Order: sequence, then structure tokens, then C-alpha cells
Amino acid sequence: MMAELLKHPNVMKRVQQEVRTVVGNKSKVVIEDINKMDYLKCVVKETLRLHPAAPLLAPRRTSASVKLGGYDIPSDTTIIINGWAIHRDPKWWENPEGFIPERFEDSSNIDFQGQDFHFIPFGFGRRACPGMPFGVVTTEYVVANLLYWFDWKLPAGEIPEHLDMTELYCHVPQENTSSCYTSFEKLSEIQKFQKQG
Ligand code: HEM
Repeated sequence: MMAELLKHPNVMKRVQQEVRTVVGNKSKVVIEDINKMDYLKCVVKETLRLHPAAPLLAPRRTSASVKLGGYDIPSDTTIIINGWAIHRDPKWWENPEGFIPERFEDSSNIDFQGQDFHFIPFGFGRRACPGMPFGVVTTEYVVANLLYWFDWKLPAGEIPEHLDMTELYCHVPQENTSSCYTSFEKLSEIQKFQKQG
């Protein structure tokens, strides 16, 4: 998520502004704050759309033969569901390769509860991720803190357009970069003082 934010400075600016405005002068981010961070939630969703943690979900098996999309699928067949491809299907997503959190503002009822079958970062049905509430809250809380306390930037000489966002394939994808691509600056005491003043 931080790599996408560094690649899209306009999104970084908007979400960081939201986080700092909501938290205000408090000494720490509290969970009630997170519930007011609507744009942060859109950023989390958009990141999970483009970079699902388990792109092929958990394998399924048919318990009976079925005809689907013109194909005859016998009973006892292992089914692999390509969530990664579904999340980039132009039939469902406008500009599918773009990192555009705003798309979840316009259609705010799209959620990852497993009812919207074109957005399944936590899967669906009986095999759906049981850790979803914990995973979402933890992600939102950690990212809100990273954005509240730190200003993020690329190392000197790097530009957002050159950030390589391709992923190395394995069950859980990793970014295709072996070097550390971000650095950050802690909010200086002066900035903190100004914010609190
Ligand atoms: C952002 C964080 C997380 C993401 C994106 C995620 C995503 C997923 C996905 C896509 C699946 C497969 C679902 C399916 O095939 O329908 C899954 C399964 C699972 N997840 Fe998560 N997960 C996250 C966090 C967690 C956490 C925090 C826990 C536990 C504390 C957890 C425990 C599990 C377990 C046990 C399964 C296997 C369920 C089964 O096969 O019956 N996950 N997760």
C-alpha cells in the first residue's frame, strides 16, 4: 500500500490530510478515528483489489457435476479461482490497472464481505477468510499510524513513474524489487508543535 501511495502522490496527500485532520491534536490514533477515515478505507480496498494477498484463493472441489459458462465440469474437480484476474476484469472495473481509490466512493456499497463476486480479496462462501475483520482493522490502524507520524518519500533520484509494481509469483505475491525503495522522515518536533498549536 505504501508503494502505491508513493507512486500516486495525489492519493498520498489526500489520505494523509484525512488522517491528520481526523486525529487532530490527540497524542495517538484511536479506533474511533479510523471509523471516520472514509478515504483511507477506499485506499485499503483499492490496494486489496490490485494486490490481493491470496490471488488464487483457496482451492475448491466440485461436489457434483455442473455446466458453467458452456463448460461441463465433472464432479470431484479441483477449482482454482483467479481473484487477481477478476479484480482486473474490464467488464466490472473502469480503468482496471489504475490505482483509483475514488472508485469505491462512487460505489460505496461494494464491500469485501463476499457478496460482490467481482471484489473478493478475502474470498467468499465457506472458505472465506475468517480473519477478515482482524485483518482489515489491523491494516487500517497500522497505515493510519504510518501516515500520521511520518512523511514518506522516495530515495533521492527516484521518481514515482519508475517504481516497479510487478509482483513475483508465489502463493502470496511479493513486489518485484530486491532493494529498499522508500525512505521516510519522522515529523519534526517543530511540525508536531505547529500541528498541535
Ligand atoms: C488483510 C489481511 C488478510 C487477507 C487479505 C486475507 C485473505 C485471505 C483469502 C483470500 C483467503 C482465501 C479465502 C477463500 O478461498 O475464499 C484467506 C483464508 C484464510 N485466512 Fe485470511 N486474510 C487476511 C488476514 C487473515 C488473518 C489476520 C487471519 C487469522 C488471524 C486469517 C486467517 C485465514 C484462514 C485460517 C484462512 C483459511 C480459511 C479456510 O480455508 O477455510 N487471515 N485469507
